[in-house]
Amino acid sequence: CASTPAARLKPAFAAIPVGTGDRLAVPNGYIASALAPWGEPVGLPGNLPAWRPDAGNTADEQAAQMGMHHDGIHYFPLDGSRRGLLVMNHEYVDDGLLHTDGLKTWTAEKVRKSQAAHGIAVIEVEQTAGGEWRMVRPSRFARRITANTPFSIGGPAAGHPLMRTAADPQGRTVLGTFNNCAAGMTPWGTYLSGEENFRNYFAAGEKLDAHQRRWGLTRTASFRWPEHDARFDAVQNPNEPNRFGWVVEVDPMDPASTPVKRTALGRAAHEGAWVAVTRDGRAVVYSGEDARNEYIYKFVSRDRIRPAGNGLTAAQANRELLDHGTLYVARFDAEGVGQWIALVHGQGPLTAGSGFADQGEVVIKSRQASDALGATKMDRPEWLAIDPMSGTVYCTLTNNADRGAAGLPGPDPANPRANNTHGHIIRWREGGDGGGDFDATRFRWDHLVLAGDPAQARSEAKGNIRGDLFACPDGITFDARGVLWVQTDAHATQMYKGEFANIGNNQMLACDLATGEMRRFLTGPTNCEVTGMTMTPDGRTMFINIQHPGETPSDRSDPADPARFSNWPDYRPGGRPRSATVVIRRADGGVIGT
Ligand code: FEO
Ligand code: CA
Ligand code: CA
Ligand code: CA
Repeated sequence: CASTPAARLKPAFAAIPVGTGDRLAVPNGYIASALAPWGEPVGLPGNLPAWRPDAGNTADEQAAQMGMHHDGIHYFPLDGSRRGLLVMNHEYVDDGLLHTDGLKTWTAEKVRKSQAAHGIAVIEVEQTAGGEWRMVRPSRFARRITANTPFSIGGPAAGHPLMRTAADPQGRTVLGTFNNCAAGMTPWGTYLSGEENFRNYFAAGEKLDAHQRRWGLTRTASFRWPEHDARFDAVQNPNEPNRFGWVVEVDPMDPASTPVKRTALGRAAHEGAWVAVTRDGRAVVYSGEDARNEYIYKFVSRDRIRPAGNGLTAAQANRELLDHGTLYVARFDAEGVGQWIALVHGQGPLTAGSGFADQGEVVIKSRQASDALGATKMDRPEWLAIDPMSGTVYCTLTNNADRGAAGLPGPDPANPRANNTHGHIIRWREGGDGGGDFDATRFRWDHLVLAGDPAQARSEAKGNIRGDLFACPDGITFDARGVLWVQTDAHATQMYKGEFANIGNNQMLACDLATGEMRRFLTGPTNCEVTGMTMTPDGRTMFINIQHPGETPSDRSDPADPARFSNWPDYRPGGRPRSATVVIRRADGGVIGT
């Protein structure tokens, strides 16, 4: 484990058992309650449409309500630990639950509602005298960003020919963000979110070109938007997919601000983005690409972070900070050594003769550029986290059943297991000796843990966990006291059987970095994912998200598997499950984890 400064908090709570059934569990002495589930009005002044349990809300109403599938989340204080903003992603939707008659019919209104249930929410929350948290409604900060909200484009792809469409001939304004996963925040007070599986929203028709194939586009879309919104017909609008797959930046304190896609950070099936600061004050942004056999990136800003002043907030003073700098991709070599390779037009293979006309094309085609540079193909990089005490960077590699399959990459030092069903967590320290600054081009890496279950027969499924079992690490977050929290996202189709028989519901654990012990803190309801973690500055309130309880609705009618039914958190008989935020406190009001 990383060297452990004396100030690091040692997690101290009674671990809970493997999660079963349709309930959320936390240790004795803790209280957990749902807040801001799908469909709650976010608090737009004069626009507070009540949630209809029959899913009868219109698209316009949905655009004023919490979206579906809560994911990454961050607390921005307004009044310390008593009142603040929660900013969170709504990764995607389950159209079977979103509409009263599910997918039995399909209309333009349903497409608009589906689009309105995606994106990002900003809500104001406060703690009452009794200790509970509630939404403040209306709130001047309340905001929904959806798949139709205008974004500007920053960085080298702004205005690029590959970003231009008939509706946006300048290539500088994109409508919307979707499939947003992880949350990050910047030292200048903005929120970062990654656009992950954007490919699922586009229909690319019968003839895919090499660029479309490399980005996984398919003939038809998983979400049925192209049927009623030609923007998602990539035959008619072949550049529209190039406008997604970016890290987006939102200033939550200014509800009128236009969010920005930061193209200098590279295009990828981005999980999210996390910021470290070099000793001389430049921003270093780590990000990964949650897709099988794709890459881990870092971006080093050209300029130093500016303080607030001259009438500008810190967010305003750093409005263009992430538009200028150098993008790198990671190569993990044997013996725990690694290299950051620059994606700079004109260097090495990234030339016009090799298909990269300029830096804009390098960032739009980051995958092709990383292929050409020989970067390491990883086992689905999900969240990253930077240890506030040691500077060690951690990344979850959630799983990769393709590792070692015919014609695909085999095990390598960093991704050591064929058919990696349970996933692992890798980490590195910057510099050739591990003692460098965040802008170093070499690093030293090792594994924190290989997830698995020693009871399994297959050697690659055993893992080396110390403490409580888990599989498919996804969310990973350090709190301010240096505790590493790990959340899991094993898929509904794998859970409760075979190599996952002893793992139970998805969960959250704390890692004691002094010993490597994983200790189970929370288990979620049936077939949910546990994701996103943020705390108030006093460490007394934790917010996490429960995503897609009861995934998927088809499971609800499967008599062979009634255990998959969920109607968390309302437990309304026959009701719909709802993704929601969960507020966790100690019953005695004490500090979480101690
Ligand atoms: Fe959307 Fe990779 O989780
Ligand atoms: Ca995730
Ligand atoms: Ca996941
Ligand atoms: Ca998910």
